[in-house]
Parts: sequence; C-alpha cells; structure tokens
Amino acid sequence: MSSNRVLIFDTTLRDGEQTPGVALTPDDKLTIAKQLDRLGVDIIEAGFPITSKGEIEAIKRIAAEGLSAKLCVLARCSREDIDAALNCDVDYIHLFIATSDLHLKYKLKLTREEALNKAIESIEYAKSHGLYIEFSAEDATRTDLDYLVSFYKSIAEVGVDKVNIPDTVGVATPSSITRIVSSVGSAVGSIPISIHCHNDFGLAVANSIAAVEAGARQVHVTVNGLGERAGNAALEEVAVALKILYGYDIGVKLPLIYETSRLVSRITGVYVQPNKAIVGDNAFTHESGIHTHGILSHPLTYEPIPPELVGRRRRLVAGKHAGRHGIMKMLEEMGIKVSDDELKTIVEKVKDLGDKGKKVTDADLLAIARSITGRVKSEERRVKLVELAVVTGSRVIPTASVKLEVDGKTYVAAETGVGPVDAALKTIEKILSPTVKARLKTFRLEAITGGSDALAEVMIVVEDDRGNTVSARAAHEDIVMASVEAMIEGINRLISIRREY
Ligand code: KIV
Ligand code: ZN
Repeated sequence: MSSNRVLIFDTTLRDGEQTPGVALTPDDKLTIAKQLDRLGVDIIEAGFPITSKGEIEAIKRIAAEGLSAKLCVLARCSREDIDAALNCDVDYIHLFIATSDLHLKYKLKLTREEALNKAIESIEYAKSHGLYIEFSAEDATRTDLDYLVSFYKSIAEVGVDKVNIPDTVGVATPSSITRIVSSVGSAVGSIPISIHCHNDFGLAVANSIAAVEAGARQVHVTVNGLGERAGNAALEEVAVALKILYGYDIGVKLPLIYETSRLVSRITGVYVQPNKAIVGDNAFTHESGIHTHGILSHPLTYEPIPPELVGRRRRLVAGKHAGRHGIMKMLEEMGIKVSDDELKTIVEKVKDLGDKGKKVTDADLLAIARSITGRVKSEERRVKLVELAVVTGSRVIPTASVKLEVDGKTYVAAETGVGPVDAALKTIEKILSPTVKARLKTFRLEAITGGSDALAEVMIVVEDDRGNTVSARAAHEDIVMASVEAMIEGINRLISIRREY
C-alpha cells in the first residue's frame, strides 16, 4: 500500500446505527452495505453481534454477499462477545476496552493493569481463532497519555493488527490528536494507526484529518455523520477533503457520494441539514445575484469543486438576493424567453416576495414569469388598480371596495359577493361597464407550493359584449390580489384587442 493511501473504515452500520432513534432491519443493513461497497469503502463495520439475533442475521447476510470491502464486527473484551463475533462468518474483529480513569472507575470498575490484562487475554483468544484484530482503547483522548502509550505498546507486542484511537466523547482538538497519534505511532512501530472521532464539538472531521497528517492511515467515518450523540466524522466530508484538499489516495468513488447519502437518509429517517457540506441541499445552490452572476461566468468563482464530482448538480434559486443574470438563466432552463422589461418586473416581484419572507420555488418563479410575460405594456394599460379592500368573515357579507384608474381618472365602487374574490371581481366589472362590458367566463385557482403562504396562481378567461375572449393569469401570495390582477390584465387585453379592430 502506498504511503499516501488512507483506508476508509465505514461504521454507519454500527456507530451510525447508534444514532438516537435509528434501528435498522437486516434488509436495511444489507441495502446500505451493498451501497457502501459500490462506493468503494475499504472496511464496513457491519454491527455489534452481541446486541441481538437480528444483528447476527444481518451480519451473516452481508457476509454471504461476498462484497469487495472487508467486513468487521465489534466486540468488547469478553469471550461471550468474541464468540458472538465468531458466529457471524467474519474474520475481522474490532475489540475495545475503555482506558480512561473515568471509565475504569465508574464503568468497568477495573484498575489500569486489570484492563490491560483483559485486553491481552481477549486478543490472544481472538487470535487463536485466526481473527484479524483492530483494537480500540475507548475514551483514548481522555486517557492519561503515558498509560495510553504503554497500553498500545503492550497490545502491539501480543500481535494486534491495527490500533484505533477513539475520541469517544469528541473532546480532542487537532493539536491534541496530533500529539496522541504521534506518541502512539512511536510506540507501536509498523502497526497501522486508525482514528475514530466524534463530533460533540464539531471537530470530528478536522480531528480525523489531523490524525492522518500525523501518520494515521485509516479513518472511521459514517455516512451523513450519523452516530452517537452529535455523530461521527462524516464520510463525505472526510473523503472529499482528504482527496481534494490534501491529495491523499482513497478508494471512495466520489461521484457516488450523494446517492449514498440520500439512500442512508431515506433508510435511517435522519434528515440531512440543508447547509451540510457536500451532501446538504444548499451545498451547490446559489441565490445571491453576485454569486449567480459569478457562477454563470465561471463556476469556480463560487464553487470549490464541480458538483458533478460528488454526484450532484448545481442549482440556482430565486430569492431576495437574486439578480437578473441568475433569474434569466433559471427562466431559460424552464424554456421561457423574456424581454428586458419583463425580466425587470419578474426580478422585482421575486425580491418583493423575498422581503416578505417567502421562499420562491421554481414553480413560483414559473408562475410569476407566466403571469408577466405577454402582459399589456405598462404605457398601454388603460386600467390600473389603485386600491383594494375586502371584508370577509363568518358573520359579515363579503364586501369589496375597489379604486381603479381608468384612462387617468379614478373610480371607486363597492359590491358584495359570495366571497371576497367574487365581491372584488364584481366591483371591477361594475366600475368598467361604461368602458368595456367584460364578463368572467372561467376562473381557475392553484396554490403552487404547499402551506398557507403558498403563491396562488389565478387563470381566467374574460369575454366582452362583442364576443372577444382573452385569457390572463396572475400570481400573488394573496388569492384576492391574484384574482384582481388577473381580471385587470384580462380587461386591458380586451381593450387593446377592441382598439385593433
Ligand atoms: O466511540 C467509541 O469509543 C467507539 C468504540 C466502540 C470504539 O465507538
Ligand atoms: Zn464511536
């Protein structure tokens, strides 16, 4: 193995399954194991056999698949645990015993010497069954360093194959990890060193990488950073950082990272936070005008790596920071062509919604664009809405009062209806009847995105007394406003048609 090669030891099926609320069936475990194997991890820690019959069944089924990755199982330093491991048809065991004074005193009730003897006894027993042994001194980072070093030296002498250093409660820092890995490294000679970091202080990935820089050649990781409490070092972050930022050689196929993350999230039911590095929804999403403009000129301006490298696609979204370039590109991708004026109006509308705290989805943008493209030009609009007020409720008759500007003059009227939309549209018909007798022929309303703040899209057909019909649409977060805007747009269209003939 080249000195630059770092092994990826995936413990999604063991430490990852210890995520609060996660329990995997044998079928789930098998599906994840197969995907991890496709992904190219070197070792899969398939489970902790002593936990249950189902766990043993799952491990046996994974072992029967003959995957390329090595399979490993976890065991405490006890014959019972090792026998359960032997029952799983796996030849790689991960043995552990706690070494910190805290764990020795309050959990194991053993002296340092007794813990070491127990470790040696278990190693000898496992070795006598021909197992490959990786050994962890649990809570290593809170263990007295001199004792930890002498502990690892002693177990190296009885023939462990690999030593793993767990930062069990995630309290290490990159500099303390460097010190521990270097000290253990000098004590164990050519035996490979592995690192296992928890994320209690958000340092799991940084600490894992510090360990590799200090000489560790294996990293324990979990997909999406699952694991006890705040989780373990995230596979996707460790793998991409090791390969791209540090230039280490790893077997993981980066383009399969995203699909693996999705699969594990779906099966475990653990949602991935949107701003999570590499696999979060926002990791390759650009909203601000400055960024999208940069991205469209050259993606490297605001992307550290091409999204395709990890199996993802770039996404531009519309929001209050959006700019013309980004929105134009999004509309092009939707197959919509807009004039400069239309684009300006669309951008204003998107920003206005953003200022109101509304997230503009692709569907919203499409509705906004559809409602604005092909609109009667503002200088040709003879009817404009000035004010609208509606009253509705359980004990009142829905009433609307509308102020319109028609050819520069303002008119006000009020009407009642079966609901606020009906009342508002009737009031508009009433005000405009001397100019154009328009009648609503069809009315369709759609809430584009879910939620009570969804953007509403109204599509109408209006007919005048000469039999002209036009369709119009409008999108607004207020249903009455969307209806009124659609109606006024329809009437402006009718007026311009009537002028043409
Ligand atoms: O975090 C830990 O210490 C562990 C051990 C079992 C290695 O997961
Ligand atoms: Zn752990």
